[in-house]
Amino acid sequence: MMTYPVIAIDGPSASGKGTVAAKVAEILQWAYLDSGALYRLTALYTQQCGVNPANEDAVADLAVHLPVMFHHGDIFLNGSNVAGKIRSEEISLLASQIAALPKVRQALLQRQRDFAKSQGLVADGRDMATVVFPDAVLKIFLTATAQIRAERRAKQLGIALDTPEFRQILSDIEKRDEADRKRPIAPLKQAADAILIDSSHLSIDEVVEKVILLYRQIEK
Ligand code: CDP
Repeated sequence: MMTYPVIAIDGPSASGKGTVAAKVAEILQWAYLDSGALYRLTALYTQQCGVNPANEDAVADLAVHLPVMFHHGDIFLNGSNVAGKIRSEEISLLASQIAALPKVRQALLQRQRDFAKSQGLVADGRDMATVVFPDAVLKIFLTATAQIRAERRAKQLGIALDTPEFRQILSDIEKRDEADRKRPIAPLKQAADAILIDSSHLSIDEVVEKVILLYRQIEK
């Protein structure tokens, strides 16, 4: 079977990987996979179905049968647009919780690989380079300090710095980082052959440019 090239972009929450990955995909005219959205959708579906998030088999079953449709940046679950809903802080934490369940990760594995079946793919997440696409032609690990990531998220939400709301965002980011790094299965970590980009002092476009440049170099 013909295989298509994959660029894997992993990193912690709010490192900008989603925006970067989507832009790189647009420039190369490749498909884009937001793997975190699949975990978030599974979390929301778990909540909607009234399933106990600690029930691994039941949550994995929901992940296999996720009635999802991606369409031009919108995400439909069971026919209703949930693109905004899955970004709530509550769903973020629940996603991180169910993402620690091995059977849930297994259930979402093939679904993720299918995205590279018909064209090149830029995939972002936590384990794109280490687990899902170990043969990716380019692996990027994108980071930024927790403080800067919290500031970016606050800006998105229109929240002022040095407020209790801001401190809550920072603590949520730190909590989720810790959970993602410490879990025994598919923890967030840089692949041995990944290139580290610290975006703390770079704009999104500067990161995109770096990734495209790296890809052009290996393409030669
Ligand atoms: O946008 P943000 O980085 O905050 O989150 P996300 O990429 O949408 O991922 C949400 C949660 O799903 C993360 O906290 C991870 O626990 C989990 N996740 C994962 O385990 N593996 C992935 N490949 C992507 C996300």
